[in-house]
Amino acid sequence: MDDRVPPWRLEDVGLIVFDVGPTLRAAAKAVDAGVDGLIVEGGEGGGFKSPRPVSTMVLFPSVTAEFDVPVIAAGGFLDVPTMAAALALGAEGVQLGTAMVATVESPIHKNWKQAVIAVAETDTVFLNSHASPALRTLRTERTSALEFDHERNSMGSFGIVRDLYFGGDLEAAIALSGQVAGRITASRPVAEVISDCVEGCEATLSDLTARYGVA
Ligand SMILES: Cc1cc2nc3c(=O)[nH]c(=O)nc-3n(C[C@H](O)[C@H](O)[C@H](O)COP(=O)(O)O)c2cc1C
Repeated sequence: MDDRVPPWRLEDVGLIVFDVGPTLRAAAKAVDAGVDGLIVEGGEGGGFKSPRPVSTMVLFPSVTAEFDVPVIAAGGFLDVPTMAAALALGAEGVQLGTAMVATVESPIHKNWKQAVIAVAETDTVFLNSHASPALRTLRTERTSALEFDHERNSMGSFGIVRDLYFGGDLEAAIALSGQVAGRITASRPVAEVISDCVEGCEATLSDLTARYGVA
């Protein structure tokens, strides 16, 4: 018998499983289910969200205080200061979403990348807090019109994703993006974005120890 025929347990086929969650309750369910680790995503991040968003700064330490598994922080990360903050909060690493959308290698249309580069930190919209899933998106005419529409589920107005992703029509669909878009100022290669998080992080943490440490 082919033991690769489903249903498998993911661990039985050698996969390491990290569950992405936006609340302490979601983290508890994932840990109960036996995940290897967690990705804890604050409400400032882009994409699908809890209808009751909690910021990374509040959510992350709540989860690490409760569970003894490796935890990756997501939502708002971009560079050394944010990466160092994640490590200080007990993260093993960070996950970037919006920053990756804007990279040179990202296959999405340049209009979306330009929009990410152009917007302020206040230019995202939180949709569907009355329904599920909630979404954090760029502010456009389409998403502004949906912002206070509590009659409809915004998922039904998601639009033609292909025209947004590859045609560059920002009104064709909902452009998922996080508040960190307000800090992104250029389209850069992925390697540069990653090295901007890592290179100098140790030095920043050492500087903090020198400034505030007792040793
Ligand atoms: C365009 C876009 C699409 C995303 N799609 C998903 C998805 O399908 N499933 C998911 O769990 N997270 C999704 N995310 C969330 C990211 O995986 C990531 O955790 C989040 O963007 C981190 O926050 P940041 O945008 O502040 O970096 C998406 C994010 C963006 C920007």
